[in-house]
Amino acid sequence: MATVLILGATSDMAAAISRRFAQQQFNIQLAARSVEKLAPLQSDINIRYGVSCTAHEFNALDFQSHEPFFHKLPVKPDITICVFGYLGENETARSNWPETERIIGTNYTGAVSILNIVSAYYAAQKKGTIAGISSVAGERGRQSNYIYGSAKAGFTAYLSGLRNRMYREGVHVVTVQPGFVYTRMTENLTLPPMLTAKPEDVANDIFTAVSQRKNIVYTKWFWRWIMLVIVMIPEFMFKKMKL
Ligand SMILES: NC(=O)c1ccc[n+]([C@@H]2O[C@H](COP(=O)([O-])OP(=O)(O)OC[C@H]3O[C@@H](n4cnc5c(N)ncnc54)[C@H](OP(=O)(O)O)[C@@H]3O)[C@@H](O)[C@H]2O)c1
Repeated sequence: MATVLILGATSDMAAAISRRFAQQQFNIQLAARSVEKLAPLQSDINIRYGVSCTAHEFNALDFQSHEPFFHKLPVKPDITICVFGYLGENETARSNWPETERIIGTNYTGAVSILNIVSAYYAAQKKGTIAGISSVAGERGRQSNYIYGSAKAGFTAYLSGLRNRMYREGVHVVTVQPGFVYTRMTENLTLPPMLTAKPEDVANDIFTAVSQRKNIVYTKWFWRWIMLVIVMIPEFMFKKMKL
């Protein structure tokens, strides 16, 4: 039975992704800063789907711990899904370097650090799948979240290059580009219902993308076209807009 590693497993999105794969009889490895927080999801998956579900401590910002974390996993995962992220507060971060560092460190450096290790392992065994959750916020910097957006832009470029580099090794890389999703991250924002996905929508799209070896998936699908329009707005107009 194949195993899926979920990095950042305490989020609503991660819970939906774990359940979606467990439904199809994948064994699940949940990884998060707090193993205690994982207990209810872990036992729910064990009982409901009858698959193995284990919990592991993982901190995206503790870069030195990533190598031992991966090598100590009792079973190496066939699929690794990088879900963790941190939105932060753009206005605060502008004048607060630790907050900026946390945004960049979580969304970019931490993801690159762990995926360098996972992809090297997959390349050596000539198989494996990596899915990274980036964001449409990375497609064009906007005044409301350009620090988070720039870190996600870096992550999107990293995943693109990794997919290109891993192709000849037989390793597949999926880039996930959600628009708005109802989760803890966005609970204080007013989101347009028509444009906003549920965590289960993201989970279904990732499951299909991994199964069908898709390269890039937008959730909801129309965000691909929304972003195309946004990217095409001339800069002299874009810089005056309040986005
Ligand atoms: N919600 C949206 O509208 C939206 C849109 C586009 C992309 N995304 C992306 O989707 C992914 C999931 O986000 P979400 O919406 O489900 O947000 P969320 O509920 O805030 O989840 C963020 C997750 O990241 C984990 N995390 C943060 N810092 C970490 C660290 N240093 N080490 C390990 N884990 C860490 C959190 O763990 P703790 O429980 O320990 O805090 C939590 O599990 C993120 O990459 C986010 O950027 C979200």
